[in-house]
Amino acid sequence: MQTESLKEKYQPYFKIGTEVSWRTIDTHADLLKKHFNSITCENEMKYSSLCRKPGEYSFEPADKIASFAKENDIALHGHTFVWHNQTPGFIFENTDEEGLLATLKAHVEKVKEHFGELATFDAVNEAIEDKKDTYLRDTKWKAVLGDDYIPKVFRVIKEVLPNTALYYNDYNDCVPEKREKIMRLLKELLAEGVPISGMGMQFHASIYHPSIDEIKRSIETYASTGLMIRISEMDVSLYKEKEPQFPSLDPELLKKQADYYDQCFKIFREYHKHIDAVTLWGASDEVSWLNNFPVFGRKNWPLLFDDKHEPKEAFYRIMNF
Ligand code: GLA
Repeated sequence: MQTESLKEKYQPYFKIGTEVSWRTIDTHADLLKKHFNSITCENEMKYSSLCRKPGEYSFEPADKIASFAKENDIALHGHTFVWHNQTPGFIFENTDEEGLLATLKAHVEKVKEHFGELATFDAVNEAIEDKKDTYLRDTKWKAVLGDDYIPKVFRVIKEVLPNTALYYNDYNDCVPEKREKIMRLLKELLAEGVPISGMGMQFHASIYHPSIDEIKRSIETYASTGLMIRISEMDVSLYKEKEPQFPSLDPELLKKQADYYDQCFKIFREYHKHIDAVTLWGASDEVSWLNNFPVFGRKNWPLLFDDKHEPKEAFYRIMNF
């Protein structure tokens, strides 16, 4: 069936992005070309994907994605430099602040040498602690660089990438206690003149939470900083938590999901001046990470296109306004 294109419909509002892998740019090529004007690598640009051993870089999978983006006039959003996961352990060994910052700088230079200066890049991912009463997550970055490691790494990255808009990216960003801590961080960074341009709200949601009110409040709150917002990893799970796989898919749940997407996109459109992109974490249900998380092998249906890459009710609802 012929359908309108997401990216054209949303052209007056914001970019429509999706997560891709070196495989899905082949298996989902038609969908990607038609509907999306921004892509984010699932893993291929993470530190440990590019560099496993000191001085040894492998760019092939990321290159494949970067070429696909270029050929099809699709923006490539960089993801990610500083994170507690998927980062090679050797960079933290036998080093001190100066050494680690020099290593990070050399890594960013390598990335720049290879991909040029991308328009947008996640500088820091998931640095805020989920547990109540603790502000920052304990990470090796923090252990070596100190509690003020976030401003330090933003500055180092910006030195190498003066023309890239740098983002702070995190999940559970609509949970009030975590939102407060993220806001504390963003305000501190801005007050100290740290070169941050945007806030990435990962937006791994479900039809049960966060509530639409909380989403609106969160976007309004982050927008009040003046930073650009990127909805960076959106999906809407049909499960509440870790319950077992449904014996069959209840169409009512897909209706609820369509309502949820519809209400979210209404808010996104309302705040579009503050939002540069809305990125789905996957092009179709066939390849969602939620088919293996938080329960390995549990089928989920969190995206806008189904296992056969056909548009779902949620797709039609966000297109129909
Ligand atoms: C986090 C990261 C992403 C990805 C997802 C799971 O949200 O930011 O890069 O690893 O988890 O797919």
